[in-house]
Amino acid sequence: MAGTFITFEGIDGSGKSTQLRLLANFLRSEGGEVLVTREPGGTSVGLRLRAALLDALEQVDPLTELLVFAADRAQHVRRVLRPALEAGQTVLSDRYADATKAYQGAGRGFSAELVSEIVQLATEGLTPDLTLLFDLSVTESSARTRRRSEGKQTGDRLDSEDAGFHTRVREAYLSLAAREPERFRVVTTNGSVDETHERVKKIVVPFLEARGQIVSREPATAGSRDTHRVPQRESPAGLEEPP
Ligand code: TYD
Repeated sequence: MAGTFITFEGIDGSGKSTQLRLLANFLRSEGGEVLVTREPGGTSVGLRLRAALLDALEQVDPLTELLVFAADRAQHVRRVLRPALEAGQTVLSDRYADATKAYQGAGRGFSAELVSEIVQLATEGLTPDLTLLFDLSVTESSARTRRRSEGKQTGDRLDSEDAGFHTRVREAYLSLAAREPERFRVVTTNGSVDETHERVKKIVVPFLEARGQIVSREPATAGSRDTHRVPQRESPAGLEEPP
């Protein structure tokens, strides 16, 4: 496909959403047209599914959870991701199918075969070109989610799962990364936000350059690494605006 599909994954509190925002701002400041989206909730129907899935007061059966994440993804793939990628855009998604493998597979205990079949059905085989896995210990990430939810009456339903759940999810992510080293890059997020952002740029910028999604402004000499522009592309027709 003409565009580039980059996904951001990691356990809750790993810092992926902050990093996604920083990277999108950086690419846009270079003149790029970047589509930022997420799962669950990357479409208008998906936003309603997200509210139901994450409501801490809702009793969601694990099978329902698996299928609703898949429904959210099917809508997202067909109405947002494919049209944007076919139009050549750079798409950054906060979570995608690896989250189902980690959370519903390892976290909830559904078999890898069943999860793969459901992922295949929802994605129609659409796989990210690059996946950044933001990794942090469960102790540190739980401290971050606790701080974040202070003041809120209730946290997300999945955030409030116990440490055993988050440990299984983290290990599953790391083993997915080990199995597909070409697609995954593991980014450790125990440093400052800025340090992590620099690491992310060092991975993503050359990746986009190699795919022609970013063009260096100057001849590639030492030290010119920080000046790029992203070619402007026309908005794809029929694309659902991500909410
Ligand atoms: P996220 O948007 O990362 O939460 P936050 O708003 O706190 O940054 O993800 C919401 C939750 O959904 C998160 O706990 C992981 C979970 N999730 C799954 O369990 N399976 C999935 O397939 C996806 C996409 C998310």
